Amino acid sequence: MSDGDSGSTLQAQGAVEFGPEEATGEEMAGEGASSMEHQQAEDAMVRALELTKIYVTGPAEVLVLDRLNLTVRRGELIAIVGASGAGKSTLLNVLGGLDRPTGGRVLVQGFDISKLGEVDLARFRNEMVGFIFQFHHLLPEFTALENVMMPLLIRGVRRSTAADRARAVLEAVGLGSRIRHRPAELSGGEQQRVALARALVGAPRLLLADEPTGNLDRRTGERMFALLQQLHERNELTSIIATHNERLAARCDRVLRLENGQLSETPR
Ligand SMILES: Nc1ncnc2c1ncn2[C@@H]1O[C@H](COP(=O)(O)OP(=O)(O)OP(=O)(O)O)[C@@H](O)[C@H]1O
Ligand SMILES: [Mg+2]
Repeated sequence: MSDGDSGSTLQAQGAVEFGPEEATGEEMAGEGASSMEHQQAEDAMVRALELTKIYVTGPAEVLVLDRLNLTVRRGELIAIVGASGAGKSTLLNVLGGLDRPTGGRVLVQGFDISKLGEVDLARFRNEMVGFIFQFHHLLPEFTALENVMMPLLIRGVRRSTAADRARAVLEAVGLGSRIRHRPAELSGGEQQRVALARALVGAPRLLLADEPTGNLDRRTGERMFALLQQLHERNELTSIIATHNERLAARCDRVLRLENGQLSETPR
């Protein structure tokens, strides 16, 4: 792993606070921003600036994100819709620091995550971001409780404390009676709720949910979405949800359509 010098230095100081940095003002000035735009940038939880992602597979190149721009304000619940293969998962992965862009930048609370080395980027994900993956990626050999404890254990939280917190979050998603079950012993909807609990246990600021209601029947999907909405509000999160479900998307604060590598606001 190459975390680079900056990473180790920041770690050594224990000082990577993923908050605004001085460069923000500079780059806004560089963009010739008006004071109103500047204010919007300050309120922003997430900004993507000219974000580009190209996948290279053998001789073929796929341009998935094409100088995409996005500003998500604190507390917003945003839906990203678009055809299969449009790049929704790619966008969430890049915004959450799971994948690096080919070009452009991602600012989270004004903090440029593209500058982080691997170690700090991992810490950023662990502390700031809750992910719900398209294929929820629960660890099959662990119980629901252990799966939810995992982000805290990675962070070095004591086992007993991690278990207490994980139990509380599982109760909050209605799974208090299933904590000893392994994923294979849970229904699809229950597995999605474990994934939601795991995403929230570390008290993230940003929730990125990739098809959180995919593979669920209509009613279970509705319930999952309502739960997500409720926890979004209760935890004062900023949430970005990729979904094919236009009906649920319409209940978000804004719906953005990803097409040809760019986002456009869909009229309400
Ligand atoms: N690791 C990869 N290597 C090469 N190409 C990739 C990779 N991941 C995704 N792609 C390609 O990038 C495009 C966007 O994929 P992505 O998974 O982001 O789409 P999506 O909008 O999430 O689709 P879906 O709605 O089906 O989940 C697709 O054409 C896909 O084939
Ligand atoms: Mg996807």
